[in-house]
Amino acid sequence: MSSQAPVVPVILAAGRGTRMHSDLPKVLQPLAEKSLLAHVLEVAGQVATSRPLVVVGHGSDQVRATLATEIRTAIQAPQLGTGHALSCALPYLDDDSLIIVLYGDVPLIRPETLKELLAARPATGMGLLTVSVADPSGYGRILRNDDGQVIGIVEERDANESQKHINEVNTGIMVATRAQWLDWLGRIDRNNAQGEFYLTDCVGLAASQGVPIGVHRCHDPQETIGINDRAQLAAAEKALRNRRASELMRCGVTLRDPDHIEIRGKISVGKDVSIDIGVVLEGTVKLGDRVSIGPHTVISDTTVGDDTEILSHCVIEHAAVGHGCRVGPFARLRPGACLGAHAHVGNYVEIKNAAVGEGSKVNHLSYVGDAEVGTKVNVGAGTIMANYDGANKHRTIIGDGASIGSNTVLVAPVKVGPDATIGAGSVITHDAPGGKLTIARSRQTTLDNWQRPRKKED
Ligand code: UD1
Ligand code: CA
Repeated sequence: MSSQAPVVPVILAAGRGTRMHSDLPKVLQPLAEKSLLAHVLEVAGQVATSRPLVVVGHGSDQVRATLATEIRTAIQAPQLGTGHALSCALPYLDDDSLIIVLYGDVPLIRPETLKELLAARPATGMGLLTVSVADPSGYGRILRNDDGQVIGIVEERDANESQKHINEVNTGIMVATRAQWLDWLGRIDRNNAQGEFYLTDCVGLAASQGVPIGVHRCHDPQETIGINDRAQLAAAEKALRNRRASELMRCGVTLRDPDHIEIRGKISVGKDVSIDIGVVLEGTVKLGDRVSIGPHTVISDTTVGDDTEILSHCVIEHAAVGHGCRVGPFARLRPGACLGAHAHVGNYVEIKNAAVGEGSKVNHLSYVGDAEVGTKVNVGAGTIMANYDGANKHRTIIGDGASIGSNTVLVAPVKVGPDATIGAGSVITHDAPGGKLTIARSRQTTLDNWQRPRKKED
């Protein structure tokens, strides 16, 4: 019972989630691109001193398939309530474990809060995390005596009218030793409105045994949202978005409207970054100092260098953008796009698996695919790097300082030498030497004696 006891999170995730009306087990419902359970496991990992255990039941094969191999599971079948779920976990845990019970459907809990709860647990007692909410409906209500001590929890469906008005509710999250849980869970019954073994009944038992109960009230009700239906799922998504927006602002990012930004991954930012409305950031995104991102741009798994300006309506994924670049509006950088410093990529330009060198410009309506574009190259409007012969992809290589005239097709594999100039409208199928003008189009002629046809007169 010492503070050295290994802290083992047990995550209850066996329930069906009837109120979701979904084929997917509730704990696999997605929240910010990850399952509810994955959010909980991430937090669990930050307080655990021993491997977490997940209680699975409904859709157990599906749930297990999403778990990392080091995560232990226990099966609960049939599902007879939260108390029964924890009983199913106990045989797998060491006697001296300190068990913190978490829920697959309470995904926004913070590790700091769990640490505060662990600290609030009296040495020989139970720790209980409660929260005060404006609308307590659906949650178990915390019952206290006249001295303010917790004496039990009553579930909504078992509560009388006056109990329903209590707005301090059970988050479900509790901590006690394995031996204590074993004792309490052996004593609870299913004489309640749902005919289930309620884990919450352990609180009343502990109180009646005189076991001290250390209550920690969570400061932020959004952390303890339990997700039972789609409306709560949407509320959690919003809460998470607000939380991440606040974190970005705390790091010094200007958000034009914190309610209209989507952050779904791990974002790291430099100083004085500014982000306009409707921006979606996914995966691992790194933004350097003074980066600005225009409205309605989507960026995933990308690094952006200092002083780069990304204008509105760009879609950027798995790309590396150097410093001092300008991208967009309406540019698309696909996987493997790599822009050197001070490169410009303008509207309706698509770049895939291609490096564009320092100071080069691809400003309008072009496709740069499977290419190496040198430094200070100008790629004229409407240039296409034809990389695909119908069977294989080939590369286009353009030397430093080259100038590609508008509406050129570079049919790969092909090389354009340094400082070469390609005449507008060319179809380049052979290598073009450096320092020279290459034109590959039919010559312009004017017919002096040509007469425009006239309409026949009757
Ligand atoms: C539970 C608590 C309630 C608390 C609320 C907080 C009980 C009896 N009630 O109610 O006091 O306010 O959480 O969100 O504990 N589960 C199993 N096996 C089961 C039943 C449930 O693993 O047999 C899992 C579910 O997958 C879910 C979690 O336990 O992740 C909670 O179950 P749920 O049915 O949603 O309980 P609530 O009614 O929300
Ligand atoms: Ca719930």
